[in-house]
Amino acid sequence: MRVGLFWRVFAVNAGFLALLALLLLVTPVTISAPIALTEAAIVLVALVIALVANALLLRRTFGPLDRLVRRMGTVDLLEPGQRLEVEHDDEVGRVVEAFNGMLERLEAERRERGRRVLAAQEAERVGIARDLHDEVGQALTGVLLQLGSITVSSAEGRQELEEARRSVRSALGEVRRISSELRPEMLADLGLVSALTELTRTFGRAARIRVEPSFDAALPRLSAETELALYRIAQESLTNVARHARASRVQVDLKADESRVLLVVRDDGVGLDGASTEYGGLRGMRERAVLVGGALEIREPAAGGVEVRVEVPADGSGGG
Ligand SMILES: Nc1ncnc2c1ncn2[C@@H]1O[C@H](COP(=O)(O)OP(=O)(O)OP(=O)(O)O)[C@@H](O)[C@H]1O
Ligand SMILES: [Mg+2]
Repeated sequence: MRVGLFWRVFAVNAGFLALLALLLLVTPVTISAPIALTEAAIVLVALVIALVANALLLRRTFGPLDRLVRRMGTVDLLEPGQRLEVEHDDEVGRVVEAFNGMLERLEAERRERGRRVLAAQEAERVGIARDLHDEVGQALTGVLLQLGSITVSSAEGRQELEEARRSVRSALGEVRRISSELRPEMLADLGLVSALTELTRTFGRAARIRVEPSFDAALPRLSAETELALYRIAQESLTNVARHARASRVQVDLKADESRVLLVVRDDGVGLDGASTEYGGLRGMRERAVLVGGALEIREPAAGGVEVRVEVPADGSGGG
């Protein structure tokens, strides 16, 4: 039979009072007025013993509540799976159980919402990329053709024409670059390693930073969602290196065994310098990792710079 919390606390206190009464009744302990020194000492010692024993018993009952309050104050949904142990089958145990259940629902709800937001974001990017490529790209190509069919007699005119064509060609290149940043077609067509190879190559050229890629060729099967997460995390990490790190080189490693893939992006720049990792791009990267059942860590190695490590499970090896 389960005894309720109220009755447990009541029993503890009642027990001590009863013990005290018993002592007074059956032992030769007497209290005289005015109280004698030894009598006062006995009463005080008994009181201290009763209080200590009471505190110990109550702590056993209420300790889990303290732990619960502390966990409630610090729980982070970006580190899923932080459950508390249910120690006793009483009211406190049921509160802890309810809290665990609530975390479960919050994490599921958050995963669902995160997936929807990311899917909407990707869909929007694909739309913008298509408009850029089809509308702006076609228009620029048309202009280029028109410029090519113009004939000018003066040398000066020819030079201006050539300059105009160069500008249009470079704008066309920009449009293609932005469009492929928005929609990594290579990822869907040729897979993660090819897409990352292309990403590091274009990044190195555009940012003028030495990129050292080292990719395990054989990866376990990854879901399209996981591949996209790894690709976007690498992309955001490299963008951060270009924007903030003042680095001269950046290593991009992709290591795999049959159940997990580890992506590491490490630069030799100025380091985070106390910048927060709780907002913006860095938080977005953590969310992406958690959504595919992985975990992301941002560290500052002793040698300097910033290191982003993300580990994700392979398809079918568990994880959300
Ligand atoms: N590789 C890096 N080297 C040095 N500082 C960095 C690096 N990556 C991030 N930071 C610092 O951390 C901060 C947060 O990065 P985060 O990516 O979250 O935001 P952001 O790049 O400033 O903006 P956005 O939300 O557009 O990504 C940056 O402002 C920068 O100060
Ligand atoms: Mg950023």
